[in-house]
Amino acid sequence: MALINENFLKLKAGYLFPEIARRVKAFTEANPEAAKRLIRCGIGDVTEALPEAVRYAMHEAVDEMGNRGTFKGYGPEQGYDFLRKAIAENDFQARGINVDADEIFISDGSKCDTGNILDIFGKGNKIAITDPVYPVYVDTNVMIGNTGDADENGAYAGLHYLKCGPENGFVPAIPNERVDLVYLCYPNNPTGATATRAQLEAWVQYALKNDTIILYDAAYEAFIQDDSIPRSIFEIEGARDCAIEFRSFSKNGGFTGMRCAFVVIPKGLMGKTASGEKQAIHPLWSRRHSTKFNGASYIIQKGAEALYTAEGKSQVKALIEHYMGNAKLLVQACKDAGLAVYGGVNAPYVWVKTPSGLTSWQMFDKMLNEANVVITPGSGFGSAGEGYFRISAFNSRANVEEVCTRIKALTK
Ligand code: MLT
Repeated sequence: MALINENFLKLKAGYLFPEIARRVKAFTEANPEAAKRLIRCGIGDVTEALPEAVRYAMHEAVDEMGNRGTFKGYGPEQGYDFLRKAIAENDFQARGINVDADEIFISDGSKCDTGNILDIFGKGNKIAITDPVYPVYVDTNVMIGNTGDADENGAYAGLHYLKCGPENGFVPAIPNERVDLVYLCYPNNPTGATATRAQLEAWVQYALKNDTIILYDAAYEAFIQDDSIPRSIFEIEGARDCAIEFRSFSKNGGFTGMRCAFVVIPKGLMGKTASGEKQAIHPLWSRRHSTKFNGASYIIQKGAEALYTAEGKSQVKALIEHYMGNAKLLVQACKDAGLAVYGGVNAPYVWVKTPSGLTSWQMFDKMLNEANVVITPGSGFGSAGEGYFRISAFNSRANVEEVCTRIKALTK
């Protein structure tokens, strides 16, 4: 019999969102009438239609594929130049950030990228993650063998947990010890918190001093409303020598079902071999892409490029305004209900303290059974998330207004 990767056996029962889906399915089967009024604010999945500019661009791309003269087979694994250039110019250079097109690697999603990045790092790295955290960072480290077993709180031996809570604004304090890799995500999933320029400067200083690489997940940067908050780690001086950035079209362009994202790796970013020789990270990721990935589809990349046209930009702006309008309503409803609420101001996630000492899963069950609203239990993001729940602002306005009414009724 073939040996299996036993690291998978260390994983907790199920990935958070499939586990929620399983519970919701059981509820809908047992309560078909109540299920009709179910509103899903669990997984952060977009609900509004794709921007028109994207649809037109993809229609044209489909027609190109239908013509022998313009048909495309395999594309460049790292992404088409037209998209890499559009990203470099619009997301970075136009904002005075030094990122070149060939430092951008197009992919089919940030979930894959933040997991796959571990392929190019060695064993024995000290790895820090925030708690609460996007579970993919943890689970992929478990799968690849970078951790020991989980304790009764679900914390894995070998990972350095950086506690985040209201006391530090959900941005971790700089650790006293050195680590090799640290995952930071701002605007944050799940807490909706943002990191200030000064906080990111402190992290970059720490990383430079300790030869740490920051894995910076900026999938939610488009939701930032406050211009003083950095949208990219590369706005911070020195970050090109210590950071990799992950970006996604999922939430700004409505691409969760389309799949397109990118990673930025500065060419000068270095790691080292076991014998201590410096090695650039960029060619390793490029090599990985060439071997394990055949590129995102041409049609999807044409759609993503259209997000950078004048029409595309204004359609994205409208989407962001819609979801952030939802977030504002949800924050206010939670406040009106007397709940302690965080996030939802520069991020599409609202992070709420459970009332009356309920655990996160008790609150999940209460919301499901009594309000028929699906939320995400905070403990699914780590032990520091216990006692919280997350409401996603990705929904129609009518649904969000209804959720607000039900939250207020539930906590009366
Ligand atoms: C979430 O709800 O946390 C996100 O949708 C997950 C993801 O983007 O993979």
